Amino acid sequence: MKKGIIITNAYTPIKSAEYQAIRLSEEFEKLGVYTKTVKNREYPCQVQDSKIINGYSDYDFSVYLDKDKYIAKMLEKSDVRLFNSADSIALCDDKMLTHIALSNNGIPMPDTLPGALCYTSDAVIPDEMVENISSKLGFPLIVKESYGSLGKGVYLVNGTDELKSVMEKLKCTPHMFQKYVSESRGCDIRIIVIGGKYLCAMMRKSETDFRSNIELGGVGIPFSPPDEYIEIAEKSAQILGLDYCGIDILLGENTGLVCEVNSNAFFGGMEKTTGVNVAKAYAEYIVSKI
Ligand SMILES: Nc1ncnc2c1ncn2[C@@H]1O[C@H](COP(=O)(O)OP(=O)(O)O)[C@@H](O)[C@H]1O
Ligand SMILES: [Mg+2]
Repeated sequence: MKKGIIITNAYTPIKSAEYQAIRLSEEFEKLGVYTKTVKNREYPCQVQDSKIINGYSDYDFSVYLDKDKYIAKMLEKSDVRLFNSADSIALCDDKMLTHIALSNNGIPMPDTLPGALCYTSDAVIPDEMVENISSKLGFPLIVKESYGSLGKGVYLVNGTDELKSVMEKLKCTPHMFQKYVSESRGCDIRIIVIGGKYLCAMMRKSETDFRSNIELGGVGIPFSPPDEYIEIAEKSAQILGLDYCGIDILLGENTGLVCEVNSNAFFGGMEKTTGVNVAKAYAEYIVSKI
């Protein structure tokens, strides 16, 4: 019998995260595959006597529902096949790195600038820097924490004073600046890609916030994406080397624009909205690969 470990995060209190592991293990069971869910804090791997010790070396694979790069790297170094790979998860975890990885590949995305690296909280932000950013992107513009999720680290900024105060707040946190896609206000398209192939999609729409995140009041609506969006999503997944992902596409004036790629996209809302069994499709894909 094939065996896999599902890795989850020690600190995440959200129900959707638990749900992912439960649904996947149900679907694996139906396929005759045993899975055990292990939290990163239980140390499935560690460095001991100068070697990586893997407590699950007789397991065939790991579904990595966490973003903890250290456990991921140790599992891979002890020859466990990770879904997704440690490098792919790291590329998606840092939104700026995602945009850099996708660039020069014909993937449409909003104009984006990284926040300048700042070492000390008492550093003074030069006025020229604020002017440079606003002249390149115009107002309103988006500021994003590079490692944010669930919409929490995304700010819509209307003018110079607001920009300065957000820059001050995020000075020592990795962040980025982005052109605001006003046509897409409160709305985007979430597309699930598994094994490089489109599986399903929904529109997320909020009436109360510029962010479409379900956690902030966005609602999932069934949506059949045009071929162009499917191509953008499949190509992005391929470039980032992802087995599984949820790609967010903003509705630009003439084209879809990649907003971000979620290596660890929750699928509960997608299953409810579309009726597609995402957990089953992912489990079947993994079984086909091991
Ligand atoms: N450049 C942008 N223009 C317009 N809306 C945006 C832009 N970037 C993000 N948003 C909105 O904010 C939401 C959250 O941003 P996102 O980058 O996906 O961060 P998170 O990882 O927190 O979900 C998006 O789903 C979208 O609705
Ligand atoms: Mg998002």
